[in-house]
Amino acid sequence: MLTKLDGRVALVTGGADGIGKASALKLAKSGADVVIADRNRDAAMKVVSEIKAMGRRATFQECDLWVYDSVKEMADRAIAEMGKVDILIASGATTVKYAKFFHELDPNDYVGCLNSQQWARLYIIRALLDHMKEQNYGKIVIITSDAGRIATPRESLIGSAAAGLVLMTKTLASEFARWQIRVNALCLTVIQGSPAFEAVMATEARHVFQKALERARLGLPTPEDVAEAALFMASPESDRITGQILSINGGLSFPG
Ligand SMILES: NC(=O)c1ccc[n+]([C@@H]2O[C@H](COP(=O)([O-])OP(=O)(O)OC[C@H]3O[C@@H](n4cnc5c(N)ncnc54)[C@H](O)[C@@H]3O)[C@@H](O)[C@H]2O)c1
Repeated sequence: MLTKLDGRVALVTGGADGIGKASALKLAKSGADVVIADRNRDAAMKVVSEIKAMGRRATFQECDLWVYDSVKEMADRAIAEMGKVDILIASGATTVKYAKFFHELDPNDYVGCLNSQQWARLYIIRALLDHMKEQNYGKIVIITSDAGRIATPRESLIGSAAAGLVLMTKTLASEFARWQIRVNALCLTVIQGSPAFEAVMATEARHVFQKALERARLGLPTPEDVAEAALFMASPESDRITGQILSINGGLSFPG
């Protein structure tokens, strides 16, 4: 996609790997400077080097996306080092640990699931909100799951977290429009070659993904396909689009 993000700074959570990494590289190719917020220093530094080799500014900011204080400190450091943050791609840090039938889930895990799948996205949005309000500009792209739009066995809890994010996307878009901050979400089902894909393929639930591979008439999307949509939602071309949910699933389902 031909878009210009020169002069913009993007912060990508979970940017060391998978969809976050693909999005970080895609935005940098379009001219953005990039902050990689992750807990995996070695992988993040490789992405930072790749972006610097393109002639952009890039920095790694270590944090635990599941802990608000860690996220807030990281966001403040990123703003201090880069001068500002215009774009947030909120990805990464989910886990397949909670991909189980409801009767198999431990009730003590409910909080951990919501924290990692839903609240982690809200922590980084909250941590950047005052800054985006001050600059009267922001583009927020929430990466979440189609399980929040369509009943998905083994994903009742993950789906409820994602459904929460779907509603949050619309409500926050409505609240934040007064500060020129756009909020949109990308909902994914199975992304071939991503960390979550590899993690599921290593479990007994692999047959679910194998079936998806056979059923996706357009082919299963890759992290690059998701990054292309993230770039559009981050770009000026989508400046009048907010509160929208876009599913990227190769035609596996048609949630509305
Ligand atoms: N990949 C898929 O098939 C799929 C399917 C449905 C939804 N999704 C959505 O897409 C997002 C991205 O998926 P993905 O497969 O690229 O990666 P992922 O969610 O497994 O994230 C990987 C990155 O997150 C980092 N990370 C993990 N825990 C962290 C923590 N506590 N603090 C800081 N960093 C942490 C890792 O170091 C890694 O760089 C998911 O979070 C989910 O919301 C993905």
